[in-house]
Amino acid sequence: SETALPYKVADMSLADWGRKEIRIAEQEMPGLMSIRAKYAAEKPLQGVRITGSLHMTIQTAVLIETLKELGADVRWASCNIFSTQDHAAAAIAATGTPVFAWKGETLEEYWWCTDQALNFPGGLGPQMVVDDGGDVTLLIHKGVDLEDGDRSFVDGKAGSEEEAVIQALLKKVLAEDPQRWHRVAKDWRGVSEETTTGVHRLYKMMEQGKLLVPAINVNDSVTKSKFDNLYGCKESLADGIKRATDVMMGGKVAVICGYGDVGKGSAASLRGLGARVIVTEVDPINALQAAMQGYEVTTIEETMGRGDIYVTCTGNVDIITLEHMEQMKDQAIVCNIGHFDNEIQMERLNSAPGVEKLEIKPQVHQYTFPSGKQIFVLAEGRLVNLGCATGHPSFVMSNSFSNQTLAQIDLWKNRDTYKVGVYVLPKKLDEEVARLHLEKIGVKLTTLSQRQADYIGVPVEGPYKTDQYRY
Ligand code: NAI
Repeated sequence: SETALPYKVADMSLADWGRKEIRIAEQEMPGLMSIRAKYAAEKPLQGVRITGSLHMTIQTAVLIETLKELGADVRWASCNIFSTQDHAAAAIAATGTPVFAWKGETLEEYWWCTDQALNFPGGLGPQMVVDDGGDVTLLIHKGVDLEDGDRSFVDGKAGSEEEAVIQALLKKVLAEDPQRWHRVAKDWRGVSEETTTGVHRLYKMMEQGKLLVPAINVNDSVTKSKFDNLYGCKESLADGIKRATDVMMGGKVAVICGYGDVGKGSAASLRGLGARVIVTEVDPINALQAAMQGYEVTTIEETMGRGDIYVTCTGNVDIITLEHMEQMKDQAIVCNIGHFDNEIQMERLNSAPGVEKLEIKPQVHQYTFPSGKQIFVLAEGRLVNLGCATGHPSFVMSNSFSNQTLAQIDLWKNRDTYKVGVYVLPKKLDEEVARLHLEKIGVKLTTLSQRQADYIGVPVEGPYKTDQYRY
């Protein structure tokens, strides 16, 4: 096998700037910093090989350094071709942590980086994985299946251009080293997954009987999806569209496709700047929620000719089709904040006869249709908040990444008792993550009296809610 490379990033001269911003982020990430302090002596991840595939941003740098402080041996890649902040990657590489990530990777480079993050010295694989979207988990599973001659494992990327890239990588590795993936998987004991889309993939693998290791669904910690997906997108969606286009939001008609946690934050983001927001949904509960919040709810077809800004947040495919884009208002802006770019039919748009693509700047493209009408597509249909801006702010990511870190500690500590399956962190830990973030923003918590605790049937120190409670 290839020898383990030290790192590959865009520009090491950015490391000092990255370090300065990491220091600022640390001040805004009290959850991660108190986890560091709490486990400084114990080092619960001592010597554990961890592969991470998660947007290589300043906030992620603080996560990486937390895992390292707990003793881990970390290798990292980004989980999106556009989401790396090059100064963050350089700062991490400068500390000697192998990171393979730069802003604007090709798909071939992306999967090469992912593979490098899995390639520890001595040809060893990881013992633990931190995943965002499930690409590392997917690659290992596909590799093992291929070596087993098993073709039954199918996933959402089947049939896409990207799948051809993955297959080419797998075949190349197989030709050089027929047992590589079994070796990579041999010591693998668990994965913690960051996002809705990756969690869907894990449950699918589980149903197909394919899942190789226990997994913790970090997304469904309350302090993750009800904060990062919601309040994170509320701040980072408008930021992404603004940095890309400088468009005036006030008065525009914005169409938000999907009103889950990300959709709720996205709708609030654009309404906050004065856009008139329309929501599309398939789920009657979410549709009713949007209506009760005061949004117009209708089908995407009904918005044609009216919508100035389109944002997909469904985690589903084919939400905006080529036909939709052909019928949109002139100068409409189209973008996606869901995990994968297949929410918008980008492959069809890019190969449509007579449609011209002009790069305004990286991650901002103007398409001209044969009729002369033009639309803009941001971040080539990939997540706009990370492609055109810098993702969510540190404070909210501290909540998400505290869950990630606690999941890694829990999976590793209990590796001999965990059975293969998909789990969420216990509510007690979820409450603990929230608790770690109160002081920083001056929140004073009320303490239950014993009489009150007995009356509602909870311990004075929590947990305060049943698992059914929806927040
Ligand atoms: P969710 O499951 O809470 O919401 C998705 C919503 O889309 C659901 O309410 C569903 O009914 C709706 N939907 C599905 N098909 C639809 C269709 N054809 N038309 C209209 N609506 C449809 O999921 P969540 O947590 O909101 O995540 C959405 C996506 O965003 C996922 O891919 C997730 O991984 C990603 N994500 C992205 C983040 C970012 O920073 N860019 C942050 C967190 C999540």
